Amino acid sequence: MTIRAAITGWGSSLPVGRVTNADLESRLDTTDAWIVERTGIRERRVAAQGETTASLGAAAGNAAIKQAALSPSDIDLLIVTTATPEQPMPETSAFVHDELGLRCGAFDVGAVCAGFTYALITGAALVSTGAHDHVLIVGSETYSRIVDPSDRSTAILFGDGAGAVVLSRSSADGPDGGPGVIAWDMGCDGSGAALLEVPAGGSRLPTSAETLAAGKHWMRMDGQEVFRRAVRCVVDSGKATLENAGMGPEDVDLFVPHQANTRIIEAAANRLGIPLDKTFSNLERYGNTSAASIPIALTEAAEEGRLHDGDLVLLSGFGAGMTWATVLLRWGAP
Ligand code: ACO
Repeated sequence: MTIRAAITGWGSSLPVGRVTNADLESRLDTTDAWIVERTGIRERRVAAQGETTASLGAAAGNAAIKQAALSPSDIDLLIVTTATPEQPMPETSAFVHDELGLRCGAFDVGAVCAGFTYALITGAALVSTGAHDHVLIVGSETYSRIVDPSDRSTAILFGDGAGAVVLSRSSADGPDGGPGVIAWDMGCDGSGAALLEVPAGGSRLPTSAETLAAGKHWMRMDGQEVFRRAVRCVVDSGKATLENAGMGPEDVDLFVPHQANTRIIEAAANRLGIPLDKTFSNLERYGNTSAASIPIALTEAAEEGRLHDGDLVLLSGFGAGMTWATVLLRWGAP
């Protein structure tokens, strides 16, 4: 039997706190009209004190396990992806593992906003070897803790939240190959590392009184260049993935790209040849939730009845690094 990894559970966890464009208008040199026109975002969620990357991630993971009609003891592996970890050490997966009461191995995969698709490919590959029956993938972020509140070019974009999926063993021997991951593509161009970064707090520039005073622990970004590269990566990687599967854009039932900017999503969908009515977006309500954006979007798409058994779904992530990864999968339970 050829094994595939199918999504059998999904869930999300979003903080209750909201920051609207009007809230930002009151403290930054910006306007609701500018933010909506240039990004498509109207509000984003913000974690309360005590709410963390691990607590949001565990809540999303718990929802996904329940949706899959499993219990924590059924999970064979946990993969967490985040760019806003619980602590520098240990990995965020250890905290999520503890909160969920898991008994399996756990590790983090880091690729910033491409983290979810990177983690999904990793988990699917491990399920496909026959080593694991159920892998829990969690994307969770608290960007409110690394975004400079006085930087209007980033403070308007990012939000907090978590999403998760359960990948389960499925057979690829059905007439259409059965549900599960069919093809993928991943890449990185490390020469773009400085385009979007938190410069201090690591080996290259350890934390000191000087790094704190200079604001080098905040995220900083060259938005225009990230924008240009993002569209290119999503299009090239999407085309490569469809080609690997011997399919075309007309076969895609739902395109779920990383939610960063409406103009990036629309430009990429147009150039890929995927109509906007087959492209999912919830960006206006959550902003960019980085590694959590795709599983949050998938959860909403499933809850809104936009995913049907047999549908072909194209997931596309891109982020700091620069990194990118695309996954083509057939929706449905094994
Ligand atoms: N409100 C009002 N004016 C603003 C704001 C703001 N919030 N931010 C910037 N401006 C101004 C700029 O200062 C500039 O003014 P100037 O012409 O007087 O110099 C003008 O607006 C145009 O600025 P641009 O940077 O050219 O604006 P652009 O249309 O490129 O939009 C944005 C900026 C929204 C940041 C866009 O470039 C973008 O979305 N880039 C991609 C960012 C992204 O997706 N990052 C995440 C990647 S995923 C990950 O790994 C985390």
